[in-house]
Amino acid sequence: MKEEITVNFLGIDLGTSSVKLIIMNEKGELLTSVSKDYGISYPQVGWAEQNPDDWWNSTKDGIRELINNHNIKPETIRGISFSGQMHGLVILDNKNKVLMPAILWCDQRTQKQCDYLNKEFGQDKLSKYTGNMALTGFTLPKVLWVKENKPDIYAKIAHMMLPKDYISFKLTGKFASDVSDASGTVMFDVKNRKWSNEVLDLLEIKEDVLPKVYESYEVVGNVSKEVSSETGLSTSTKVIAGAGDQAAGAIGTGTVDSGVLSVALGTSGVVFASSEKFYVDKENRLHSFCHANGKWHQMGVILSAASSLKWWVDNVNSDIGGDVFEKLLSEAESSPVGSNKLFFSPYLIGERTPYNDPCAKGSFIGLNVTHKRGDMTRSILEGVSFALRDSLEILKNLNVDMKEVRISGGGSKSKLWRQIIADVFNLNVSIINSKEGPAYGASILAAVGCKLFNSVDEACKALIKTTDKIQPIRENVEKYDKLYKVYSSLYSCLKDKFKEIDNLSI
Ligand code: XUL
Repeated sequence: MKEEITVNFLGIDLGTSSVKLIIMNEKGELLTSVSKDYGISYPQVGWAEQNPDDWWNSTKDGIRELINNHNIKPETIRGISFSGQMHGLVILDNKNKVLMPAILWCDQRTQKQCDYLNKEFGQDKLSKYTGNMALTGFTLPKVLWVKENKPDIYAKIAHMMLPKDYISFKLTGKFASDVSDASGTVMFDVKNRKWSNEVLDLLEIKEDVLPKVYESYEVVGNVSKEVSSETGLSTSTKVIAGAGDQAAGAIGTGTVDSGVLSVALGTSGVVFASSEKFYVDKENRLHSFCHANGKWHQMGVILSAASSLKWWVDNVNSDIGGDVFEKLLSEAESSPVGSNKLFFSPYLIGERTPYNDPCAKGSFIGLNVTHKRGDMTRSILEGVSFALRDSLEILKNLNVDMKEVRISGGGSKSKLWRQIIADVFNLNVSIINSKEGPAYGASILAAVGCKLFNSVDEACKALIKTTDKIQPIRENVEKYDKLYKVYSSLYSCLKDKFKEIDNLSI
């Protein structure tokens, strides 16, 4: 009898709070997963850093655990690929040593550099060369910050890369990135899928410090001998470029055709539309990035989505005992649509789309003596959904085709939140067979890189199936339309106050 050959793929999702590793077989089934947590350090208000070697050590621990405790035979892992937290800056010296902690996507220290790039260098020029404007979270302003504030370190930079590219480098010894993640640097010519010579020349950044850029499904190299002996992985395993977490998440939910929107309720929240062609919103309110399937996408990002609920759980309600999430969410079920006219703005670490305002702050607006905790919890779910609708409205103005939403991320586990999204967006929300989002997208990219499928789109069509649909409830849609009108006017009333609060000296 012929022995069946097992073929598996490893998807590594390098997130902000943990790295998650999943093993998918050739039928697209999830065999097993492990997750390893790490911390974020906030050395100053608005700063957020991580040590790239914490990512690598956690990834190695995860790989060893998969091989030793979960009985995954190394030679069955044909390919490895990645989903990565985007925009972070990792810099190495000429001995490939990390020069300083990585500055993360949610770090807000670069307002001055963004003002220079958007005002003096010129937003029109940046948008023409890269398809995007400079935002505090993006990579280029971070490079300029290091140049201005840490000139000694800047002088030693031999390599710059994005977070997941550090893991790819550690696995293969090669400096490689992919088009979707590179798009979030504002150094990348998104239309032509290559580093922007214009931006690099004008800002005197040498292209040879940047990694070689691949399509997300292309092979970068093989696992090195050194890593093989450290982790047990096989040197025959291929490493595939991977994607930024939003593009990988969209692949993991099968968001590859126009008409389908991916909504991620993770730490950050995202509305993501896949498109056949490259196009740019004139005011750059949405990001125009390369997709991981060889095409493009537009997306709006809010900075605190599921993390708003996490804040409510950890900082305010941690002492209520039992499963705090479950308790709070069940209380929220008994609050009506509109949370008894209570609004929540989720700008807990400033906001990106549509305001690009690092000073924006979170708030409950409309509190009265009758409000209960359930109303407050529900208003958080609604406030995040309204903040995401801001991006949906921009997409509508751009005449982007929208038929359904595919939802992923921790927040999507809540039935109540899924219904609120359907009602606030007035779109069907599809529930799909895979729950692994970005990690699943990463393993699909690995499978495509190993030629199990001819294209990413083909893989998504074969592996991702809709299992259920949540329809918007007409009565709720009408109420949410009215409530959204009020919500969307609140920021402009508070904007100056947010700045005043920052400048208060008490
Ligand atoms: C995307 C973005 C986030 C981070 C962290 O632009 O900033 O998705 O990658 O998840």
